[in-house]
Amino acid sequence: MGLELHYADGQTPIDEDEKLGLLISTISTKSELDEFEQLNIEGAIQWLKGKKFKGSEVFSESFVCMIHRRMYGSVWSWASKFRSTNKNIGVDKFQVSQSLRMLCNDAHYWVEHEVYSPEEIAIRFKHRLVSIHCFPNGNGRHSRLMADVIIENFFGQMHFSWGSQNLISQDDARRAYIDAVRKADRGNLSPLFQFSRS
Ligand SMILES: Nc1ncnc2c1ncn2[C@@H]1O[C@H](COP(=O)(O)OP(=O)(O)O)[C@@H](O)[C@H]1O
Ligand SMILES: [Mg+2]
Repeated sequence: MGLELHYADGQTPIDEDEKLGLLISTISTKSELDEFEQLNIEGAIQWLKGKKFKGSEVFSESFVCMIHRRMYGSVWSWASKFRSTNKNIGVDKFQVSQSLRMLCNDAHYWVEHEVYSPEEIAIRFKHRLVSIHCFPNGNGRHSRLMADVIIENFFGQMHFSWGSQNLISQDDARRAYIDAVRKADRGNLSPLFQFSRS
């Protein structure tokens, strides 16, 4: 019995090979998968609580991958590992590591030199990160949690509300989110700023 998944608009399909990385054999539907992933993600959020990190730690491949592992490592064997196939979103699979390194260098500089406002730094980082699409899946939620880490850790501000929804099911909040992400692709970050605090 395989894992049957149906996707909402803007979700990255999980390849058949990647499905073999499912660590919990009792999961057979998308809603069960969503629930287990959500539990895992809550563990990552708990782990982050009260911790403080330096810029050189956060803006590194090892931190970005470690957060993905903490979010999905109980559910997927490929958590924290860069994808080895190309997807409908993202850079070429061979460009992932270098693109992430460039993004980390840029963002570290933005924080150190206050190049943009705190929110702009967090949202710019989030959008470039999800546009690289480092991992086989979970990139959207991972990019949002990374933005939350940035705004809390470096600027002491409240984490983002992201439409006050989990953004997994195809509803109005998810449509607004995907619409904002696509506008950000075209260089207009304002809708994503607004959405992040809605
Ligand atoms: N056109 C786009 N440009 C940049 N990011 C996008 C685009 N379309 C979708 N995304 C992001 O990719 C995510 C889907 O990737 P995926 O790896 O499945 O993450 P998740 O499983 O957390 O939803 C969406 O939630 C959204 O954040
Ligand atoms: Mg997904």
